[in-house]
Amino acid sequence: MGEMKLRSVREADVVGNTVVLRTSLNVPVGEDGAPLDPFRLKKALPTIEYLSERNAKTIILGHLGRDGVSLQGVAHSLQGLTSVPIRFFTGALSEAATEASKMAPGECMILENIRREAGEEENSPVLSQQLAALGKLYVNDAFADSHRTHASIVGIAGLLPSYAGLLMEEEVSHLSKALQPPPSARAYVGGAKFKTKEPLIMKLLDLYERVHVVGAIADDFLVARGHGVGRSLVSEIPIPRALASDSRIVVEEDVTVVKDGVARVCGIDDIAADEIIMDAGPATAKRWSEEIAESPFVLWNGTLGVYEKGFIGPTEALGRAIVSAKVPAVIGGGDTLAALSGISFEGSRAFLSTGGGAMLQFLANGTLPGIEPLRA
Ligand code: 3PG
Repeated sequence: MGEMKLRSVREADVVGNTVVLRTSLNVPVGEDGAPLDPFRLKKALPTIEYLSERNAKTIILGHLGRDGVSLQGVAHSLQGLTSVPIRFFTGALSEAATEASKMAPGECMILENIRREAGEEENSPVLSQQLAALGKLYVNDAFADSHRTHASIVGIAGLLPSYAGLLMEEEVSHLSKALQPPPSARAYVGGAKFKTKEPLIMKLLDLYERVHVVGAIADDFLVARGHGVGRSLVSEIPIPRALASDSRIVVEEDVTVVKDGVARVCGIDDIAADEIIMDAGPATAKRWSEEIAESPFVLWNGTLGVYEKGFIGPTEALGRAIVSAKVPAVIGGGDTLAALSGISFEGSRAFLSTGGGAMLQFLANGTLPGIEPLRA
């Protein structure tokens, strides 16, 4: 597979022009609408600042959640992270162009949650036209949202000269490398349902020497390999026999289980019928961390344990191994990054992807619906 070539914002004639920029503003927020984790917002800044420095007037489109929550708190936070003047426009889309004409060169205006607009999720031609009418150029920097065939991601891209933003380029470049790993590379993949991960696991088996399954799908593999998993969550559809016995797929050797709120560590053959697996065990964490330190490349999406209940020890151990051995790595998934938030990746060789579902879909298919219109 050759390197995917995209038309870059760096080639676009943005100077003094009005640019419609799709950014991923979909961050976890508290009850007051304020972001709890600014990771995606910080990653959105280089393109916003690039456009501002070139005196573009930038209209930013983004979504938040699935219930049309206001982007006001997010816009406020974004302003706190940059000196680029950012305003938030709550008016109707039909008035956005008039409002944009009042912007000074170098300014940005964020429109309200685009998922409030009828037709966004249906990729409606009418809404796509309305969005395209707002500017001269379109830049998609929302890698994390580009698995959605929505009007602000796909429809508009067919109607304006369209380009990839700086984050989009960075994501595609790193994730493309994850699709061409060096020999002896290792992948760690988790998730709740095996069926949704099956295409990705099949793909990774072609590319990686070992694919470690983590989190709930590891339970499915334990069952398929004849181990009892007590009351742990397992998929209804069993894993195909050939895949279950594939020795390139690695599961944990020990686990932390709980029963009545009490945790204990045991081997994978000793899980009692009334226990639930919460995490990989310390022996697994030690072995995998040692192996990671020797690995030429690591791809990782999925926590080892139920991190929201505090089972993060083995996940952090792997993260620390990647940092201290300076292993080239691509790590992503909202939960995975949240579980690793106590670890600094500064100075490491890990790339942290903003993509959750988008990362997995890109890895499985080599592209995304929102990326296709940007190809050079
Ligand atoms: C994500 O967080 O995966 C993206 O922002 C897409 O959000 P969605 O799952 O609500 O489409």
